[in-house]
Amino acid sequence: TPLTIAIDGPSGSGKSSVSKEVARRLGLAYLDTGAMYRAATWWCLREGVDLADADSVTAVVDTMPLSQSVDPDNQVIRMDDVDITEIIRESSISTKVSQVATNLEVRDILRALQRSRIDAERNGGFSGGNGIVAEGRDITTVVAPDADARILLTASEEARLARRAKDVHGTADAAAVEATKDEVLRRDADDSTVSQFQVASDGVITIDSSDLDFEQTVRAVLAAIEQ
Ligand code: CDP
Repeated sequence: TPLTIAIDGPSGSGKSSVSKEVARRLGLAYLDTGAMYRAATWWCLREGVDLADADSVTAVVDTMPLSQSVDPDNQVIRMDDVDITEIIRESSISTKVSQVATNLEVRDILRALQRSRIDAERNGGFSGGNGIVAEGRDITTVVAPDADARILLTASEEARLARRAKDVHGTADAAAVEATKDEVLRRDADDSTVSQFQVASDGVITIDSSDLDFEQTVRAVLAAIEQ
């Protein structure tokens, strides 16, 4: 029977890399929902939409020509024929994505897309019907509250900043942490209305990865799935 695994967590919790590895080990598809909000933001900017104009943002996102692979070993995100896999990670997008993600109509549109990707993997798709790991901020609570396993991956602020610094600057020395700090804390604040969906609701297993390395976190998630 197909598996749906829902994983939520904040920036720097390790959620993307851990979710991808769990998908690999279980032979599942992997859906990065954050990438969809990033892609939507990129598309709005490219179309010249004022991000403060919620109705225009919604209209443009509703018709965006997004394609996104769910292969954990080959993540490619395209808008029409433009490969935006790398560019959506840049800080020019990171600093603006919350403005798009807090638009509730945009969330409805992207959640519907996410549910259809999840259904597609349960019925065939890349995984051949094995299922999917879907990762984000509201997957355990809103997108897939009926998932077979629901996990909230948390970490202390210190651990999150160190991981983020390593991702972005390749090192977690004091200067790198300082450089990432503003952006991460700023986005946490900008995301505050998104965070209401990111709570340990009933049946959600919380894993604190602050003192776990990558392999330990992957194992903790696999153990939670087996429960
Ligand atoms: O870079 P990081 O891993 O923190 O974030 P991400 O997973 O790439 O998500 C980028 C942004 O998309 C978040 O800061 C949220 O504003 C938004 N997002 C959301 O609102 N709901 C989701 N399910 C996933 C992401």
